[in-house]
Amino acid sequence: TLRDITERKRTEEAGRQHQAELAHVLRVATIEHMASGLAHELNQPLTAIANEVEACATYVREGKLEPPRLLALLEHAGAEALRAGEIVHHLREFVQRSPARIETTDLSKVVHNAIQWFVREMEQAQITVRLELASQELRVFADRIQIEQVIVNILQNAIDAIREATHDTGEIRIHTSRTDDGMGEVTISDTGTGFRAGAAERLYEPFFTTKPQGMGMGLAISRSIVELHQGRLSVAPSAAGAGTAVRLALPLEERVLRLTSAHSPPHKGGRHDG
Ligand SMILES: Nc1ncnc2c1ncn2[C@@H]1O[C@H](COP(=O)(O)OP(=O)(O)O)[C@@H](O)[C@H]1O
Ligand SMILES: [Mg+2]
Repeated sequence: TLRDITERKRTEEAGRQHQAELAHVLRVATIEHMASGLAHELNQPLTAIANEVEACATYVREGKLEPPRLLALLEHAGAEALRAGEIVHHLREFVQRSPARIETTDLSKVVHNAIQWFVREMEQAQITVRLELASQELRVFADRIQIEQVIVNILQNAIDAIREATHDTGEIRIHTSRTDDGMGEVTISDTGTGFRAGAAERLYEPFFTTKPQGMGMGLAISRSIVELHQGRLSVAPSAAGAGTAVRLALPLEERVLRLTSAHSPPHKGGRHDG
């Protein structure tokens, strides 16, 4: 009946609201955890600006006014200031955004944004990242901040697992590709501890964690975000032997368009796939 439908809509809406709030809480907690890496990320452009401005001042003080040289330094300082601004802007967006905003998004770009938060932490833990990004753009329909959050969660787990394994060094391999069924896929494999046999069924359970400081919400939130996007998320032992491989797949824009046009009457001289 109509009332049932209204009731169900309301429940769904409340569920979405709840999911968005949890995702927000987790993002804030994640940022707190990553604060040192973030400080490093901001420090780089600020240090560059300070050095360049100082160099300009030295030139001027010594009366060596070479406009092209000064201009180059000033332009570089300006560019670095913009970069610092972008980092701050992205950080604000990452923390504040809660209602989903679905748009066409390049998956590789989201991967790059997510890695950015961990550069420092990975340097310290001597973890190398091997990037194997698809040569073509993988345009998916997604909320890029939410998907970035999913990838941040996966990367954080990979780093935790490598640290726990106490290898001298570790590697995270990030591979993107297009699947046969029209999805853009990111596979993130690590050389960490792997998960215990008994843990496999519980990984996505809210509050399931094997870490002393763990919250156990990373994969639970990630899964609900991916489900809202009609994507897939799976965690499996890595093909390489030790470690874990996490796969995230999202519908490609072209697939969504094809499904949509399948519902409308066919028209002559239509699109062709390329
Ligand atoms: N890459 C991984 N390698 C090994 N174990 C993992 C990995 N990713 C997740 N896990 C296991 O799944 C559990 C739940 O992960 P998550 O939901 O992100 O919560 P948390 O990271 O706070 O523990 C982890 O505590 C860990 O036992
Ligand atoms: Mg986690």
